[in-house]
Amino acid sequence: MSSYSFPADFIWGAATAAYQIEGAAATGGRKPSVWDTFSAQPGRVLNNDTGAVACDHYNRYASDIKLMAELGIRHYRFSLSWPRILPDGRGAANQPGLDFYKRLVDCLHQHGITPHATLFHWDSPQALENLYGSWRSREIAKDFSDYAGLVVRELGDRITHWMTINEIFCFTHIGYGIGQVPIHAPGTIVSSAKEVWQTSHHALLAHGMACQAIRAASLVPCSIALVDNFVPTVPIAETPEHIAAAQTAFHLNGTNGGIAEPALTGQYSPALLKQLGADAPDIQDGDLKIIHQPLDAFGFNNYSGTLVRAIDQAPGYEFLSFPKSYPKLHMPWLFFAPDSTYWGIRHISETLNRPDLPIFITENGCAAEDELTTNGEVLDTDRILFLQQYLRSAHRAICEGYPLKGYFVWSLLDNFEWAWGYDRRFGITYIDYATQQRVPKSSAHWYAECIRQNRVV
Ligand code: FCB
Repeated sequence: MSSYSFPADFIWGAATAAYQIEGAAATGGRKPSVWDTFSAQPGRVLNNDTGAVACDHYNRYASDIKLMAELGIRHYRFSLSWPRILPDGRGAANQPGLDFYKRLVDCLHQHGITPHATLFHWDSPQALENLYGSWRSREIAKDFSDYAGLVVRELGDRITHWMTINEIFCFTHIGYGIGQVPIHAPGTIVSSAKEVWQTSHHALLAHGMACQAIRAASLVPCSIALVDNFVPTVPIAETPEHIAAAQTAFHLNGTNGGIAEPALTGQYSPALLKQLGADAPDIQDGDLKIIHQPLDAFGFNNYSGTLVRAIDQAPGYEFLSFPKSYPKLHMPWLFFAPDSTYWGIRHISETLNRPDLPIFITENGCAAEDELTTNGEVLDTDRILFLQQYLRSAHRAICEGYPLKGYFVWSLLDNFEWAWGYDRRFGITYIDYATQQRVPKSSAHWYAECIRQNRVV
């Protein structure tokens, strides 16, 4: 009997994002995104790396897709670059940009790979940042939904799996800093926490309006998802009191109660609003209805979690920080927390009361200090350990009846890891940036075997 088997229709995939892999930043009519501007400023990104060339995927997409097919990967999550398609963020479409994505998607289909397209993975058009401060303005919701409608009219014959926005927290809450230099683009310092919450509220509105635009534009039935990196609360032990503590604490962990919760339930967490007080965003009449669109799936980007325990005093729970020697991978925040997969899925179904909503793990993976051996291998057994344990936790969720339908490893390729540049490697494929040579790591071969056997090997 083989263990850790997944359901026959389970989706195994790999994920990437446009700015992190494409390069060709000034090719085919593309204009800058906020990440081009941010990374061009000295000192913003480690080693002053930029995404100008990245993995040169714009020119090498065909061989990258061939590699994916050879590994047996049949589902690919990638993102479309808004400024490649609409260089000014709005107005006239850029045909060479659209043509690139048509070629890419046709090539995926030729290799039997299903495309899952994210409309926005952080690369806001710089033109809109200049025009009205992008996410600081409500205007962006209309521009984003127009862009979404355009993309679906142009590519909706080839793509039926849409994801609106990736990780609202990251490009809003850590892209706009209060009184300190933010670590993500656009790197704009705002003056209050309320202004920051307003940026994520605008992103939620953009998501909601984009859902409406996609449904209106798609000529065929399609699936729409939001992708979020809510942070699961994980009970210190699985006893009724610690589980209850993790469930109560869920709403107040990071931005959980202000991003995933309104999107999936139509309400900001009341406990969060109380805690925010005057820092809460302004919410206009009708906003929550727009934000709370029917979704076909929810994308969970899963890296780590927060441990919680029950305590006797109010509020009845306590967030625990990770002790000094707690195991982590090659990022300061990447604590090894495989139970976060199971708990993340369970919290969506149970704590947010959405047992009906299919869930995909749209990212899971880790940075490791990969080294190429003299005979050309990358023996990333640390990454295998990481993926194996998180996938076992995913398997547990399925066995207990939670609606997990698929999994996308982050990432297909080593790539431009935002403020960490090329210093941090998240790929199952190693990239030698000097030659652009691709070397599938041991984890890629291991993952291929999981897919082949439809189980965690
Ligand atoms: C996620 C991002 C993705 C990548 C991974 C490591 O937050 O969505 O682009 O940077 O982290």
